[in-house]
Amino acid sequence: MYNSQQKPLSRREFLKNTGKITVASALTAGLIPHVHAAENNTIKVALVGCGGRGAGAASNAMSVKNGPIKLVALADVFEERIKRSYDNLKKIHPEQVDVPEEHKFIGFDAYKDAMDCLSPGDVVILATPPAFRWVHFTYAIEKGINVFMEKPVTVDGPTTLKFLKLAEDSVKKNLKVGVGLMCRHCEARWELYDRIQNGQLGDIITLRAYRLHGPIGYFASDPKPDNISELLYQTQRFHSFLWASGGNFSDFYIHHIDECCWMKGAWPVKAQSLGGRHYRGNSIDQNFDTYSVEYTFADGTKLFLYGRCIEGCHNEFASYAHGSKGSAVISQGGHTPARCRINKGQDLDKKDDIVWEFSEQEPNPYQLEWDHLIEAIREDKPFNEAKRGAEASLVTSMGRMAAHTGRVVTYEEMLNCEHEFAPGLDKLTMNSPAPLQLGPDGKYPVPQPGINNFEYHISV
Ligand SMILES: NC(=O)c1ccc[n+]([C@@H]2O[C@H](COP(=O)([O-])OP(=O)(O)OC[C@H]3O[C@@H](n4cnc5c(N)ncnc54)[C@H](O)[C@@H]3O)[C@@H](O)[C@H]2O)c1
Repeated sequence: MYNSQQKPLSRREFLKNTGKITVASALTAGLIPHVHAAENNTIKVALVGCGGRGAGAASNAMSVKNGPIKLVALADVFEERIKRSYDNLKKIHPEQVDVPEEHKFIGFDAYKDAMDCLSPGDVVILATPPAFRWVHFTYAIEKGINVFMEKPVTVDGPTTLKFLKLAEDSVKKNLKVGVGLMCRHCEARWELYDRIQNGQLGDIITLRAYRLHGPIGYFASDPKPDNISELLYQTQRFHSFLWASGGNFSDFYIHHIDECCWMKGAWPVKAQSLGGRHYRGNSIDQNFDTYSVEYTFADGTKLFLYGRCIEGCHNEFASYAHGSKGSAVISQGGHTPARCRINKGQDLDKKDDIVWEFSEQEPNPYQLEWDHLIEAIREDKPFNEAKRGAEASLVTSMGRMAAHTGRVVTYEEMLNCEHEFAPGLDKLTMNSPAPLQLGPDGKYPVPQPGINNFEYHISV
């Protein structure tokens, strides 16, 4: 369905083609697909990263209707996260949560133990901070396990290159891989995408995206308290640390960037950005409070992205497209419902100019992405979003890097930038030093545009 960013299939094309592609690809690859369609058809699920989204994804998995699914293993670096997620999930899905005490694993290598509870063809959910994604994905591929992983999937150039290779390996193994850019599974956006492809908007000239709200999640962090190690503090508060998440930029803005690029049908070739730190109080995290990015596509089209985490300002959460024949809401007021519509002019506030709007009730894309993944597993349909997820993550890093260095950054530069934020994460133990160290001033280094150039940004 979601083959490549450059020329995605429309939903209708996908539904028409999948049967043919499946047989052909399985034969070409000489694979006997591991299909969960017959007698022993329970799909087992392991959850690595038992936080808010991980538990949400596990619940979505167990809500898929086309056959039995059960949760059999949990892994996290904090015991209380495992307990909380287990208790909550057990209440909602009492029959399907089947995780004995000996299948609850704690530590940086807990992911291996959890995946060892699965068989080829089962699914692992990777919902830790993104820095660990390539480590966990590598093991899943080795074990022949299908994957649902949360976005972003990479935060820098070297891990993106590594990840793109892993994506190829996973395709060769006929694994099904979902990436949590759930907006790609939204029915309303699909219809908008089809209409744009059919020319209803004319040529797309400008895209705009806004994510403006107060501080949320682990956006800001005060100095570490004494009762936790530096490594666990940074791992826990991952939005605050670039090595762990790409900062709030990568974590918060990737959805808007991705949905705009989807509608455009291309990735931008370069970015230039502004951003800065304003009111920080005691916070010593690495984030900027504001970001504005101008992405440029190969044909000169622009995508303008605005991000702000400041209380008391105008709030907006939306993406828009402007074309030579009209304009469109890609999403407005949140990820779901998207409230997609097309206007005949450029003023999206003019209700009289609406020529189309998605009128049906929008099914939840967090559920749809799971329905599609499990359907692909059971029916052996091609389904692998790993490459596209890595590209979306890279384009997001490109905008962030442009803000943090004050330079124009191209796609190729970002991809080939040799700076890896946290090398050796596959060897991390509870006793390892944290990837980021405090400076002599007792603060973590923050990006300094104009001072940190593209070659020098060790840690920022
Ligand atoms: N698609 C979406 O809309 C959406 C929404 C929220 C979060 N997310 C993504 O989901 C991921 C997790 O976010 P969250 O909000 O659930 O955070 P969270 O802090 O609630 O959960 C992360 C969990 O991972 C655990 N963890 C950290 N490192 C680990 C490791 N190496 N091994 C095992 N466990 C580890 C943490 O202890 C924590 O329990 C992020 O990548 C985030 O961007 C996506």
